Amino acid sequence: MKVLVATDKPFAKVAVDGIRKEVEAAGYELVLLEKYGEKAKLLEAVQDVDAIIIRSDVIDAEVLGAAKNLKIVVRAGAGYDNVDLASATAHNVCVMNTPGQNSNAVAELAFGLMVMAVRNMYNGTSGTELKGKKLGIHAYGNVGRNVARIAKGFGMDIYAYDAFCPKEAIEADGVKAVASAEELYATCNVVSLHIPATAETKNSIGYALVNRMPKGGLLVNTARKEVINEEELIKLMEERADLKYMTDIMPVANDTFAAKFAGRYFSTPKKMGAQTAEANINAGIAAAKQIVGFFKDGCEKFRVNK
Ligand code: 3PG
Repeated sequence: MKVLVATDKPFAKVAVDGIRKEVEAAGYELVLLEKYGEKAKLLEAVQDVDAIIIRSDVIDAEVLGAAKNLKIVVRAGAGYDNVDLASATAHNVCVMNTPGQNSNAVAELAFGLMVMAVRNMYNGTSGTELKGKKLGIHAYGNVGRNVARIAKGFGMDIYAYDAFCPKEAIEADGVKAVASAEELYATCNVVSLHIPATAETKNSIGYALVNRMPKGGLLVNTARKEVINEEELIKLMEERADLKYMTDIMPVANDTFAAKFAGRYFSTPKKMGAQTAEANINAGIAAAKQIVGFFKDGCEKFRVNK
């Protein structure tokens, strides 16, 4: 049995060592393809493997078609919008994610971005504090919950909106559940995005919603770039010089954002929310264990395709 780790953005070495240990203990062979850059290299590497561990690497119909022996793909992480699920099902390939394994790392980075914004990008001028400010958590999943936990330490007043999570579950954490995204944005000084990229959420964060934020509003995106309507956000930020946007996922229009909104816009060069040794170990080893469980016990927990 061959298990390919295909990571254009590699895991920390310590995580790769841990994955190798799991895979080899099961009697399987580990193949490593890191920083491959072009798709052709991925297409070649997948040809004879039974399982693949990926991060944000794109597994589309072409890759699935080239992987003749493939039975399982595990996305070491939360979002699986990079995998063509329908095509995987058609190829009889099981797709899983590893929910929760990297969520603390992403939540910590959201606060890194928040502090950077309210301290004026560390430019030496007097900023503001997070304590006492209203934080809106947009989607209360694994990352949202970690954001709430950390926000308590900062002394923030915490609100959340989630279309699927029951109000009681949110309020049990001492977080105020609001009835709509509109209410969340109208209420909060800072909104932290934690929605997945789906057909419903793509382009959903735009002019009307963000314009509800009070003066000095800060939008933090550690989720996906696709959920932002970039054109509308640019138009709004042109009209409202008080708004700030901090993102861990570089927008398509990064150059425009950077040129127009210096001092109130920042993007990491490469998505790095989950780029910690701990997150890599947690998600990578969970992925390896899920593959072993799938082959040895037929376990399909965390399967995300039909
Ligand atoms: C996730 O969906 O788990 C995060 O976006 C992390 O993505 P990454 O593995 O590409 O860093």
